Amino acid sequence: MKKRMVIANWKLHPETVDEALDLFDGIKDGVSRIKGVEVVIAPPFVFLPEITAEYRGSRIEFAGQDLFYKGEGSFTGEVSAPMLKSVGASYVIIGHSERRALGENNEDVQMKVEAALADGLRVILCIGERERNHGGEYLTFLLEELTTAFENVNEKQMKHVVIAYEPIWAIGKDDDDAMQPTQVHEMVIFIKKFLTERFNARVASNTPILYGGSVEPPNAEALFTEGEVDGFLVGHASLDIDEFSEIVKIVSLV
Ligand code: PGA
Repeated sequence: MKKRMVIANWKLHPETVDEALDLFDGIKDGVSRIKGVEVVIAPPFVFLPEITAEYRGSRIEFAGQDLFYKGEGSFTGEVSAPMLKSVGASYVIIGHSERRALGENNEDVQMKVEAALADGLRVILCIGERERNHGGEYLTFLLEELTTAFENVNEKQMKHVVIAYEPIWAIGKDDDDAMQPTQVHEMVIFIKKFLTERFNARVASNTPILYGGSVEPPNAEALFTEGEVDGFLVGHASLDIDEFSEIVKIVSLV
Protein backbone atom coordinates (compact mmCIF):
# COMPACT_ATOMS: atom_id res chain seq x y z
CA MET A 1 0.00 0.00 0.00
CA LYS A 2 1.31 3.41 -0.87
CA LYS A 3 2.52 5.80 1.76
CA ARG A 4 0.22 8.74 2.37
CA MET A 5 1.63 12.03 3.61
CA VAL A 6 0.40 15.54 4.21
CA ILE A 7 2.92 18.23 5.08
CA ALA A 8 2.00 21.61 6.57
CA ASN A 9 4.34 24.38 5.44
CA TRP A 10 3.56 27.34 7.68
CA LYS A 11 6.07 29.57 5.89
CA LEU A 12 6.45 32.92 7.74
CA HIS A 13 3.39 32.39 9.97
CA PRO A 14 2.05 32.84 12.60
CA GLU A 15 3.34 35.94 14.32
CA THR A 16 3.90 34.72 17.88
CA VAL A 17 4.86 31.55 19.68
CA ASP A 18 1.48 31.51 21.47
CA GLU A 19 -0.34 31.56 18.16
CA ALA A 20 1.97 28.82 16.87
CA LEU A 21 1.19 26.64 19.91
CA ASP A 22 -2.56 27.22 19.45
CA LEU A 23 -2.37 26.35 15.76
CA PHE A 24 -0.40 23.21 16.55
CA ASP A 25 -2.84 22.16 19.29
CA GLY A 26 -5.74 22.60 16.89
CA ILE A 27 -4.10 20.56 14.16
CA LYS A 28 -3.05 17.88 16.66
CA ASP A 29 -6.65 17.49 17.82
CA GLY A 30 -8.00 17.78 14.28
CA VAL A 31 -5.91 14.90 12.95
CA SER A 32 -5.81 12.77 16.11
CA ARG A 33 -8.34 10.21 14.94
CA ILE A 34 -7.24 10.05 11.33
CA LYS A 35 -5.30 6.90 10.54
CA GLY A 36 -2.97 5.90 7.75
CA VAL A 37 -1.57 9.34 6.89
CA GLU A 38 1.79 10.66 8.00
CA VAL A 39 1.38 14.29 9.06
CA VAL A 40 4.45 16.53 9.06
CA ILE A 41 4.42 20.09 10.37
CA ALA A 42 7.05 22.60 9.21
CA PRO A 43 6.84 25.66 11.48
CA PRO A 44 9.31 28.55 11.42
CA PHE A 45 12.57 27.46 13.10
CA VAL A 46 12.04 29.50 16.25
CA PHE A 47 8.76 27.75 17.09
CA LEU A 48 10.05 24.19 16.63
CA PRO A 49 11.50 23.64 20.13
CA GLU A 50 8.37 24.92 21.90
CA ILE A 51 6.06 22.82 19.79
CA THR A 52 8.05 19.61 19.90
CA ALA A 53 8.71 19.96 23.64
CA GLU A 54 5.01 19.94 24.41
CA TYR A 55 4.15 17.13 22.00
CA ARG A 56 4.04 13.68 23.58
CA GLY A 57 2.58 11.73 20.66
CA SER A 58 4.24 9.93 17.81
CA ARG A 59 1.79 10.46 14.97
CA ILE A 60 3.05 13.89 13.92
CA GLU A 61 6.55 14.48 12.59
CA PHE A 62 8.31 17.83 12.33
CA ALA A 63 10.30 19.51 9.60
CA GLY A 64 12.55 22.52 9.20
CA GLN A 65 11.63 24.78 6.29
CA ASP A 66 15.27 24.94 5.17
CA LEU A 67 18.76 24.23 6.49
CA PHE A 68 22.36 25.22 5.84
CA TYR A 69 24.79 22.75 4.34
CA LYS A 70 27.48 23.20 7.00
CA GLY A 71 27.17 21.61 10.42
CA GLU A 72 28.63 24.59 12.27
CA GLY A 73 30.85 27.59 11.78
CA SER A 74 30.78 31.31 11.06
CA PHE A 75 27.53 31.47 9.11
CA THR A 76 25.38 34.14 10.71
CA GLY A 77 21.68 33.46 10.54
CA GLU A 78 21.92 29.87 9.34
CA VAL A 79 20.54 26.68 10.90
CA SER A 80 22.19 23.25 10.56
CA ALA A 81 20.90 19.70 10.31
CA PRO A 82 22.19 18.73 13.80
CA MET A 83 20.45 21.80 15.25
CA LEU A 84 17.17 20.87 13.61
CA LYS A 85 17.44 17.29 14.86
CA SER A 86 18.20 18.48 18.37
CA VAL A 87 14.88 20.34 18.52
CA GLY A 88 12.80 17.44 17.27
CA ALA A 89 12.76 17.74 13.47
CA SER A 90 13.04 14.51 11.49
CA TYR A 91 12.47 16.10 8.08
CA VAL A 92 13.63 19.21 6.29
CA ILE A 93 12.14 20.99 3.29
CA ILE A 94 14.84 21.77 0.72
CA GLY A 95 14.67 23.85 -2.44
CA HIS A 96 11.28 25.43 -1.88
CA SER A 97 10.57 27.87 -4.71
CA GLU A 98 10.39 30.74 -2.22
CA ARG A 99 13.98 29.96 -1.13
CA ARG A 100 15.04 29.65 -4.75
CA ALA A 101 13.42 33.05 -5.46
CA LEU A 102 15.70 34.49 -2.76
CA GLY A 103 18.77 33.25 -4.58
CA GLU A 104 19.17 29.56 -3.82
CA ASN A 105 20.42 27.61 -6.84
CA ASN A 106 20.56 23.94 -7.78
CA GLU A 107 24.09 23.58 -6.40
CA ASP A 108 23.00 24.96 -3.02
CA VAL A 109 20.12 22.50 -3.05
CA GLN A 110 22.51 19.66 -3.84
CA MET A 111 24.74 20.53 -0.86
CA LYS A 112 21.72 20.86 1.43
CA VAL A 113 20.33 17.48 0.36
CA GLU A 114 23.68 15.84 1.05
CA ALA A 115 24.08 17.57 4.42
CA ALA A 116 20.59 16.59 5.56
CA LEU A 117 20.98 12.94 4.56
CA ALA A 118 24.47 12.71 6.06
CA ASP A 119 23.11 13.93 9.38
CA GLY A 120 20.07 11.68 9.38
CA LEU A 121 17.34 14.12 8.43
CA ARG A 122 14.77 13.04 5.87
CA VAL A 123 14.54 15.30 2.84
CA ILE A 124 11.46 16.88 1.28
CA LEU A 125 12.91 18.08 -2.03
CA CYS A 126 10.80 20.72 -3.80
CA ILE A 127 10.93 21.15 -7.53
CA GLY A 128 8.69 23.17 -9.83
CA GLU A 129 8.71 25.33 -12.92
CA ARG A 130 7.98 29.05 -12.98
CA GLU A 131 5.83 28.82 -16.09
CA ARG A 132 4.63 26.38 -18.71
CA ASN A 133 5.93 26.88 -22.20
CA HIS A 134 4.73 25.15 -25.32
CA GLY A 135 8.10 23.82 -26.36
CA GLY A 136 8.30 21.82 -23.13
CA GLU A 137 11.41 23.66 -21.89
CA TYR A 138 9.99 23.43 -18.39
CA LEU A 139 10.67 19.70 -18.46
CA THR A 140 14.37 20.38 -19.05
CA PHE A 141 14.28 22.83 -16.15
CA LEU A 142 12.73 20.20 -13.85
CA LEU A 143 15.16 17.54 -15.01
CA GLU A 144 18.04 19.85 -14.14
CA GLU A 145 16.60 20.42 -10.68
CA LEU A 146 16.26 16.67 -10.09
CA THR A 147 19.59 15.66 -11.62
CA THR A 148 21.61 18.20 -9.65
CA ALA A 149 19.83 17.56 -6.34
CA PHE A 150 20.51 13.81 -6.49
CA GLU A 151 23.93 13.91 -8.13
CA ASN A 152 25.71 12.32 -5.16
CA VAL A 153 22.79 10.50 -3.56
CA ASN A 154 22.73 6.70 -3.60
CA GLU A 155 19.86 4.26 -3.80
CA LYS A 156 19.92 3.52 -0.07
CA GLN A 157 19.68 7.20 0.82
CA MET A 158 16.62 7.57 -1.41
CA LYS A 159 14.64 5.73 1.31
CA HIS A 160 14.83 9.04 3.20
CA VAL A 161 13.67 11.28 0.37
CA VAL A 162 10.25 12.68 -0.52
CA ILE A 163 9.76 14.73 -3.69
CA ALA A 164 7.26 17.59 -3.70
CA TYR A 165 6.28 18.85 -7.13
CA GLU A 166 5.10 22.44 -6.80
CA PRO A 167 4.60 24.46 -9.98
CA ILE A 168 5.34 28.04 -8.95
CA TRP A 169 2.43 29.41 -10.97
CA ALA A 170 -0.01 27.39 -8.85
CA ILE A 171 1.31 28.34 -5.39
CA GLY A 172 -0.58 30.65 -3.04
CA LYS A 173 -3.74 30.93 -5.15
CA ASP A 174 -6.99 29.16 -4.45
CA ASP A 175 -8.36 25.81 -5.47
CA ASP A 176 -9.50 27.08 -8.90
CA ASP A 177 -5.93 27.98 -9.80
CA ALA A 178 -4.31 24.73 -8.69
CA MET A 179 -3.06 22.34 -11.28
CA GLN A 180 -5.50 19.99 -12.95
CA PRO A 181 -5.29 16.41 -11.67
CA THR A 182 -4.36 15.01 -15.10
CA GLN A 183 -1.48 17.49 -15.37
CA VAL A 184 -0.33 16.41 -11.90
CA HIS A 185 -0.45 12.78 -13.02
CA GLU A 186 1.74 13.62 -16.03
CA MET A 187 4.31 15.12 -13.70
CA VAL A 188 4.23 12.09 -11.39
CA ILE A 189 5.01 9.91 -14.42
CA PHE A 190 7.79 12.29 -15.44
CA ILE A 191 9.38 12.14 -11.96
CA LYS A 192 9.06 8.35 -11.77
CA LYS A 193 10.71 8.05 -15.18
CA PHE A 194 13.60 10.16 -13.93
CA LEU A 195 13.91 8.03 -10.77
CA THR A 196 13.84 4.80 -12.80
CA GLU A 197 16.58 6.00 -15.11
CA ARG A 198 18.72 7.57 -12.39
CA PHE A 199 18.21 4.79 -9.82
CA ASN A 200 15.82 1.95 -10.61
CA ALA A 201 12.14 0.95 -10.67
CA ARG A 202 12.11 0.19 -6.96
CA VAL A 203 13.21 3.71 -6.04
CA ALA A 204 10.65 5.08 -8.51
CA SER A 205 7.82 3.19 -6.87
CA ASN A 206 8.93 3.71 -3.25
CA THR A 207 9.79 7.42 -3.27
CA PRO A 208 6.72 9.40 -2.15
CA ILE A 209 5.74 12.08 -4.67
CA LEU A 210 3.62 14.93 -3.34
CA TYR A 211 1.85 17.79 -5.05
CA GLY A 212 1.86 21.34 -3.67
CA GLY A 213 0.21 24.49 -4.92
CA SER A 214 -3.17 25.72 -3.72
CA VAL A 215 -4.35 22.43 -2.28
CA GLU A 216 -7.61 23.02 -0.41
CA PRO A 217 -10.42 20.70 0.72
CA PRO A 218 -12.45 21.14 -2.52
CA ASN A 219 -9.67 19.96 -4.84
CA ALA A 220 -7.80 17.53 -2.58
CA GLU A 221 -9.71 14.38 -3.48
CA ALA A 222 -9.39 14.73 -7.26
CA LEU A 223 -5.74 15.73 -7.01
CA PHE A 224 -5.00 12.74 -4.78
CA THR A 225 -6.84 10.09 -6.78
CA GLU A 226 -6.53 11.29 -10.38
CA GLY A 227 -3.16 12.96 -9.83
CA GLU A 228 -1.90 9.67 -8.33
CA VAL A 229 0.27 11.47 -5.82
CA ASP A 230 1.16 10.12 -2.37
CA GLY A 231 -0.01 13.28 -0.63
CA PHE A 232 0.37 17.02 -0.43
CA LEU A 233 2.59 19.88 0.67
CA VAL A 234 0.08 22.42 1.93
CA GLY A 235 0.82 26.12 2.39
CA HIS A 236 -1.95 28.58 3.21
CA ALA A 237 -4.57 25.93 4.00
CA SER A 238 -2.25 24.56 6.71
CA LEU A 239 -2.84 27.73 8.74
CA ASP A 240 -6.52 26.89 8.99
CA ILE A 241 -7.10 24.05 11.46
CA ASP A 242 -10.36 22.87 9.86
CA GLU A 243 -9.13 23.05 6.29
CA PHE A 244 -5.87 21.29 7.04
CA SER A 245 -7.56 18.55 9.09
CA GLU A 246 -10.08 18.08 6.29
CA ILE A 247 -7.31 17.64 3.71
CA VAL A 248 -5.64 14.99 5.92
CA LYS A 249 -9.00 13.26 6.31
CA ILE A 250 -9.61 13.25 2.56
CA VAL A 251 -6.18 11.69 1.96
CA SER A 252 -6.95 9.00 4.56
CA LEU A 253 -10.31 8.09 3.04
CA VAL A 254 -9.81 7.95 -0.71
P1 PGA B 1 0.04 26.99 -1.06
O1 PGA B 1 1.60 26.78 -0.82
O2 PGA B 1 -0.66 25.75 -0.58
O3 PGA B 1 -0.30 28.22 -0.25
O4 PGA B 1 -0.13 27.19 -2.53
C1 PGA B 1 2.24 25.56 -1.13
C2 PGA B 1 3.71 25.69 -0.91
O5 PGA B 1 4.31 26.72 -1.28
O6 PGA B 1 4.35 24.78 -0.33
